[in-house]
Amino acid sequence: MRSPKDFFEPLAIGAPQPVREIPVRPSRMIHFFDPSNPKMAAKVPSIAKGCDILLGNLEDAVQSDKKLAAREGFIEIAKATDFGDCQLWTRVNSLDSPWVLDDLIQIVTAVGNKLDVVMVPKVEGPEDIHYVDRLLAQLEARAKVERPILVHAILETASGVVNIEAIAGASPRMQGMSLGPADLAASRRMKTTRVGGGHPGYLVRADPSPNDAEAPRPTAQQDLWHYTIARMVDACASHGILPFYGPFGDIRDTLACEDQFRNAFLLGCVGAWSLHPVQIEIAKKVFSPTVEDVVWAKRVIDEMGDGTGAVMIDGKMQDDATVKQCRVMVGLAQMLADRDPDLKKAYGL
Ligand code: GLV
Ligand code: MG
Repeated sequence: MRSPKDFFEPLAIGAPQPVREIPVRPSRMIHFFDPSNPKMAAKVPSIAKGCDILLGNLEDAVQSDKKLAAREGFIEIAKATDFGDCQLWTRVNSLDSPWVLDDLIQIVTAVGNKLDVVMVPKVEGPEDIHYVDRLLAQLEARAKVERPILVHAILETASGVVNIEAIAGASPRMQGMSLGPADLAASRRMKTTRVGGGHPGYLVRADPSPNDAEAPRPTAQQDLWHYTIARMVDACASHGILPFYGPFGDIRDTLACEDQFRNAFLLGCVGAWSLHPVQIEIAKKVFSPTVEDVVWAKRVIDEMGDGTGAVMIDGKMQDDATVKQCRVMVGLAQMLADRDPDLKKAYGL
């Protein structure tokens, strides 16, 4: 075990000092693009203007004969584009693939100073993060990268879920985690064939009526992902890093996508992946607090004075704990308002 005293020392001579706190920036959507697709690449500069995080995907969904084109395309786009306030991430290939070493070496060497976060797929345990951590430090030192590149793990293996707390605390680079429901379903041998979302077969049925055993019995679909998201939120919150919902594959089902994103938001996630521009708008709507919630939260904070004791507002008891929840809400609203003049006006901040 490394001594806690050394935890914030760079892992290579000349690498930048690790961060002590994860910078919290608007992160409502991680919008995926395929850098090997010239049509998609051409849209990157305009999408960056309305997006919190843009991610060049090198892993699954990029065909094996396009892997090199995707990596080279990403480097070109990163060099040529002014991303403004939008963060630039990449998802590299998995650590057991033949591509990941060159993904990391070439990208950090060429555009390390423009890259905010590396998303690492199929993380099984803290040892995977340690490997990436040291390698990034060596590459940062060699390429004279000025600030540490952060690491985001996808929670998409059964081992990853078992080791989730150790992964969350494996390195000061750990920025956050995303649920990867498609690979996780495969790893767990779940009997689904979808990318995220619910399943009509996963339900709870009301008891039979005592008076009429044949009467229809209402059912309610349950959330397949509740347990995993809740564990992820606790692991992330306890380590000061950020949890995200992952992909929702049914692009046309915007309503169910919105529901799934909102469940994640209410449970503590800061954002979700978007696989199509229509999902950017859904994420923006869902992961920005409602005006009503912000107005209420400001009122509670005002009426609670120094934040201790209890008051009744419209018949609802408020105390130290509700004021803390309200500060989370207003803090998020303020961060988003600082970036978006429409939200600033709507929130009255
Ligand atoms: C994402 O990578 C997933 O497997 O769901
Ligand atoms: Mg996956």
